Amino acid sequence: MKKLGFLGAGNMGGALIRGLIEFGAIDADNVYVCGHHPEKLRAFSKELGFHISESLEQMAKDTDAILFAVKPYHIEAVLEESGNCLKDKIMLSVISGYDFDRYEKLLPPSVRHLYIMPNTPSSVGEGVLMFEEKHNLTESEHAWVFDMFSKIGSVFTLPSRLMPAGAAVAGCGPAFIAMVLEALSDAGVKYGIPRKTAYALAAQMTLGTAKMQLETGLHPGEIKDGVCSPLGTTIRGVQALEKAGMRSAFMDAVDAVMQYGK
Ligand SMILES: NC(=O)c1ccc[n+]([C@@H]2O[C@H](COP(=O)([O-])OP(=O)(O)OC[C@H]3O[C@@H](n4cnc5c(N)ncnc54)[C@H](OP(=O)(O)O)[C@@H]3O)[C@@H](O)[C@H]2O)c1
Repeated sequence: MKKLGFLGAGNMGGALIRGLIEFGAIDADNVYVCGHHPEKLRAFSKELGFHISESLEQMAKDTDAILFAVKPYHIEAVLEESGNCLKDKIMLSVISGYDFDRYEKLLPPSVRHLYIMPNTPSSVGEGVLMFEEKHNLTESEHAWVFDMFSKIGSVFTLPSRLMPAGAAVAGCGPAFIAMVLEALSDAGVKYGIPRKTAYALAAQMTLGTAKMQLETGLHPGEIKDGVCSPLGTTIRGVQALEKAGMRSAFMDAVDAVMQYGK
């Protein structure tokens, strides 16, 4: 069994560590984690059973592959200081915007690397894991990573040019959908539903609608039409959402993400 290290265990790194261990994709004994502040990791390590590494250099000695989950503005300084320890290793990265071509200019030539854009629902086994098509892992290394990540969600392979849009839709998407859950729940609370019940209603409805689309392959518009009977109540709500610019608000949200750094 290969050993996997994580540099950074914040929101995304932490979600992946939790998902991979809790869904049996990797044994906790084969997981090493290096954080900026190792003391912050102790409770997390106690809960899941992974090893804490004191430095990236030490973690590179103890593992076969390292997944980078630090903020984009940290990565280049980290690689400048310690990039040499990655020689001959597998490097996985979930850092937004750092794709294969960008890493080719930053990493020692012997590093085999793959850019993965995940999302936080990976922690509960329902993630979206977008693998960049371009990589230089061997076939068996790629199969190992693919199988491991398939245990915490659905893996999609995307050409490099579509990784930013995939990141905006499915990487940022959990934040957008959580806002929808919160807003719909607020509306329920306004009409007397206790807050906790309102969250449960909205979340289960969202889960069910998504599952229905995935399992039937129905056009989302058909699912909407199936709820809107003539002279009914739902179509009035649909009109109110259209008036409020709901569709263009979501498209604007993705535009805003895509404009970042340009
Ligand atoms: N959040 C998401 O939903 C999501 C989705 C897809 C991709 N991503 C990508 O995931 C990466 C991390 O995002 P995040 O939301 O998880 O950020 P975050 O919560 O701030 O986590 C980053 C972690 O990296 C640690 N860190 C910083 N410098 C380090 C170093 N030199 N050595 C070891 N650890 C270091 C930080 O530790 P301290 O806090 O102790 O400084 C922090 O725990 C980003 O590049 C982002 O593009 C995030």
